[in-house]
Amino acid sequence: MAARGGFSSRIGFIAAAAGSAVGLGNIWQFPYVAGQNGGAAFLLIYVFWIFLIGFPIMLGEITLGRSAQANPYGAYKKYGGKVWGLVGLFGILSGVMILSFYNVVSGWAFGYFLETAFGNLLEEENFSTFFGDYVADFSDNLWFSFGFMAITAVIVLQGVKKGIEGSAKILMPALFVILIGIIIYGLMLPGAMEGVKFYLLPDFSLINGATIYSALGQAFFSLSLGMGGLITYGSYLSKKENIVSSATLVAIADTLVAFLAGLMIFPLVFSQGQSPSEGPGLVFVALPGIFQAMGPILGKVIGSSFFLLLCFAALTSTISLLEVAVAYFIDERKWPRRKAVLVMAFLIFLIGIPSMLGYGAVQSLTSFTFYEGTPKSFMDLIQDLFSVVALPLGGFLLSLFIATRWTTAKFSEEISHGTTNYKGSFLEGFLNIMIKFVCPVVLGFMFVLTVLQKFLNVELF
Ligand code: PHE
Repeated sequence: MAARGGFSSRIGFIAAAAGSAVGLGNIWQFPYVAGQNGGAAFLLIYVFWIFLIGFPIMLGEITLGRSAQANPYGAYKKYGGKVWGLVGLFGILSGVMILSFYNVVSGWAFGYFLETAFGNLLEEENFSTFFGDYVADFSDNLWFSFGFMAITAVIVLQGVKKGIEGSAKILMPALFVILIGIIIYGLMLPGAMEGVKFYLLPDFSLINGATIYSALGQAFFSLSLGMGGLITYGSYLSKKENIVSSATLVAIADTLVAFLAGLMIFPLVFSQGQSPSEGPGLVFVALPGIFQAMGPILGKVIGSSFFLLLCFAALTSTISLLEVAVAYFIDERKWPRRKAVLVMAFLIFLIGIPSMLGYGAVQSLTSFTFYEGTPKSFMDLIQDLFSVVALPLGGFLLSLFIATRWTTAKFSEEISHGTTNYKGSFLEGFLNIMIKFVCPVVLGFMFVLTVLQKFLNVELF
């Protein structure tokens, strides 16, 4: 069998894993979900989930992948047999479905880049109407999301080292710089402090079941957990590398970017008198107004750089999503990489079409179903099923798998390769307890709570 691809260095892995984590989830989704769920109270619970549950699960995925040297299905099957293999398959399916809508939103970001740089976006009067018309326009969206998937496919075709690693290293720092720039600008605007208060001063009366499970789903989505993405990337990692410190850096970078995205958006939203609970259009409606206020030239430069970097952030995530399905077909079905990439990319693009049509273009997909007291679009449903529900469920199954089949002894042993002094450390004891008891219990409970409350209208608290 040909040797599996691999990252060339520790920095390569960190860049690729952070590239996967940092994306639309941080800059587009985090602010709007936080805006709909009480702002600061949400932020607090989000950070709690990231470090308490997200971090151990992240280590679980990376170690399982590195130890098994396989895609999610192969990894579960290797240590747990065919039935556990189904858990890996379920993760791969979640990745496919997530990519289907993620690619549509990436297409919006790409369109906004073009509209800002070469079109008339910054001369518009009402950005909310513009956004509504924009996402309802089927042909533009079709081309942009097709284009975005094509670029993703070209990079994934190049394999692990050249394509995935190379692209992530330069783009992450650039994104960081532009976020900080817009934050400073935004904080100086009149009314900005109201936004800061909304985002940083928690009102605990706003915490309810929905805040708690939305923050959990958001944490899993943002860290790219629960669907085997990090099992796959872990399988390309060498035994010499320190998994604990790599994962810590990835978790911190991801949380920091989400935090900064919120700090960027809420002052802008409040200073322009918009509503923080606007939903998926939040970033696309709040930012152009500010770019417009910067004046025609500066606005165009900053605005188009921002949307371009947003596209790059999205791209390093779409790459990781596509790679999971591709790795499965290469490992298990012995497809050549080329075939796996082309077939899966095209298929996932097609699966995304109903999501694309559900933003006004087709009424029956826009009001596709009804729960949580409101009509939901097709894309809302896919987002809820495959990220809010499926990812924490994937985390639950992973921790259950380590606790009952693979064993925490093996988990611990695998981490110790490359992490000196891990055996016998406080961290080892802590992580073993988290994976063995806390994660399965908490995530199992959260799964039940989410399904009951979201879809069956039963409020536990
Ligand atoms: N973490 C990515 C983001 O925040 C999305 C993603 C989810 C990527 C799951 C891979 C797997 O945008």
